[in-house]
Amino acid sequence: MKKLHIETYGCQMNVADSEVVASILSPHYSITDSLHEADLILLNTCSVRDNAEQRIRKRLRELAALKKKNKHLLVGLLGCMAERIKEQLLEEEKTLDFIAGPDAYRSLPELIDKASVGTVSFNVHLSEEETYDDIDPVRYDSNGVSAFISIMRGCNNFCSYCVVPYTRGRERSREPNTIIAEAQNLFKKGFKEVTLLGQNVNSYCWKEAEKNIDFADLTEQIARISPLLRVRYATSHPKDISDKLLFVMAKYPNVCHYIHLPVQAGSNEMLKKMNRIYTREYYLERIKRIKEILPDCAISTDIIAGFCGETEQNHQDTLSLMKKVGYEYAFMFKYSVREGTKAAEKFEDDISEELKIKRLEEIIALQQQLSLESNKRDIGKTVTVLVEGVSKRSDQHLFGRNSQNKVCVFPRQHYKVGDYVEVKISRCTAGTLMA
Ligand code: SAH
Ligand code: SF4
Ligand code: F3S
Repeated sequence: MKKLHIETYGCQMNVADSEVVASILSPHYSITDSLHEADLILLNTCSVRDNAEQRIRKRLRELAALKKKNKHLLVGLLGCMAERIKEQLLEEEKTLDFIAGPDAYRSLPELIDKASVGTVSFNVHLSEEETYDDIDPVRYDSNGVSAFISIMRGCNNFCSYCVVPYTRGRERSREPNTIIAEAQNLFKKGFKEVTLLGQNVNSYCWKEAEKNIDFADLTEQIARISPLLRVRYATSHPKDISDKLLFVMAKYPNVCHYIHLPVQAGSNEMLKKMNRIYTREYYLERIKRIKEILPDCAISTDIIAGFCGETEQNHQDTLSLMKKVGYEYAFMFKYSVREGTKAAEKFEDDISEELKIKRLEEIIALQQQLSLESNKRDIGKTVTVLVEGVSKRSDQHLFGRNSQNKVCVFPRQHYKVGDYVEVKISRCTAGTLMA
């Protein structure tokens, strides 16, 4: 059997996709961690910001050296960068033997066959139906405790700055019975936590003859598999996080009290230019509702600093919104122009690099403070942690996460990976709870 090495960049969807790819290629390739052992190297790539793509280009230069030493080595590029740049990428990057877009993974065996006789080829066809629903992912890099389940693909939102609708194509939901069967199967194999994935999971919708199954219905069905199977999901778009879903989360203790609700910006002016559909007021109303229905729910977000035309006041509005919500965690980015998007066509990228960095640093500093405050409020509480592994800092300690997705570290004693452990929080940093 030949050896395959996969490197995954970008979002969790890509992690799930790499597991699908490993499954599609499993009749001919087994996975290896080692680059030097590999007959085939695949890079599953991200295009969301320019630096994500620059990183891949650098990686390809490193792989070129490896290819010189091993004439039989094949290198393929998958994912969003393949879809965005298409066959032009094969012109630019001579290290590549083939490229495949996110909906083209079933054709990988063919692309590899062609590459092995020296024909450079590509498939970047985007599908309206492909969900890989019949493929059982190979969880080759798993801790055996938590797994991703991809429940939908694509995005129809066209936020003006974002390349994802172009690289991932139209939104489509996966057949619910295949999702439930995958979750049941994982639970049988000993997994204790599943994360339902999509760019926009709250708009999950499966139309059946008599009724529609929405995301709240699906979550409820997965939650019923076992009280010992935790359910998480990502990502939510504020426009369709419904009360119905919040009530399902309140009803089933195994549906984790954690919501990733990207806001992107705090001023209505920026939100409108970003085509986010909602207003600051609407977003804060949703937060209020979350806190009413799920008082202990943790909330995280994504924020973009320095979008086109952002004034100091707009930036202050982002900071004040962050304080109002009191986010537990945030992913924070500088705006990066993506060719082909509405923002690139319509607005000038007029915030200087220095100012973007300054604003981003202010956002990061504030978030650091908010995360620390939130963690301090947990000191003295008893929480249930699902153990994921041994702490990196000390083999006498284990780590896991509580329902709120906070990492907790505690003495190992007789506990093991996959156990639920009740611990009492005694100390914290901005990033970790210690028990
Ligand atoms: N579907 C998810 C997130 C997808 S991309 C959602 O709608 O929230 C992850 C994050 O990358 C986005 O939330 C956004 O904050 C950031 N992002 C996307 N395009 C970007 C760009 N052009 N520049 C900087 N950050 C960007
Ligand atoms: Fe991008 Fe917006 Fe779709 Fe998220 S919802 S993937 S930010 S277009
Ligand atoms: Fe990146 Fe594509 Fe995900 S652009 S963030 S890998 S959907």
